[in-house]
Amino acid sequence: MYILAPSVLAADFSKLGEDVVTVAEAGAKYIHLDVMDGAFVPSISFGMPVIEKLRGCTDAIFDVHMMVEEPGRYIQDMKKVGADIICVHQEACVHLDRTINQIKEAGCKAAVALNPATPVETLSCILDQVDMFLIMSVNPGFGGQKFIPYTIEKIKKLRKMLDDAGLKTDIQVDGGVTAANVRTLIEAGANVFVAGSAVFKNDAAANTKEFLEIFKEYE
Ligand code: DX5
Ligand code: ZN
Repeated sequence: MYILAPSVLAADFSKLGEDVVTVAEAGAKYIHLDVMDGAFVPSISFGMPVIEKLRGCTDAIFDVHMMVEEPGRYIQDMKKVGADIICVHQEACVHLDRTINQIKEAGCKAAVALNPATPVETLSCILDQVDMFLIMSVNPGFGGQKFIPYTIEKIKKLRKMLDDAGLKTDIQVDGGVTAANVRTLIEAGANVFVAGSAVFKNDAAANTKEFLEIFKEYE
């Protein structure tokens, strides 16, 4: 199944709830929430209070992308405010195995993200431990950046590693994803697509539907 996860980072923060409802009603299954701490990534975005308020606006799955040093510190808080999936960066966790277990014990789905320059082979020990892997296709920290082409090979490699292990784990891609390049990403083996600017520029409902129409070509 192919899933669109609009990143609210590109939404209009003065009417965030409305924007989230718009994309959810247009058919986006996940809402991608980019939490940035100004340490792991240069920018600061939003945290628990904003997510808690949004939780009251929709039943869509909340996919929380933690761009935070040692995100294990916030798992309980994120669960409490309504996170369904908690995604942590491999590069931000000294004890990644423990953090993954804590996410699962909290009752959330566990996802692990890799920065563009981190090889997928570093995931070999935890292949069967998580529900989703996130291949970053830009350097995390900002929306609206250009897609880094070499990350396509990483998606292909990771899908092969999962196939060889008999696993059907989701592969998510985040950064510079558009309706123009999403077919290439599907063909590389990804199935969950984060899109910020490509969804929220101009007509968010129409952009969401455009992605969903493309997904139908592959289902
Ligand atoms: C980048 C964030 C992304 C970002 C994507 O650090 O993780 O989720 O919002 O934005 P676009 O789709 O505009 O590249
Ligand atoms: Zn993200």
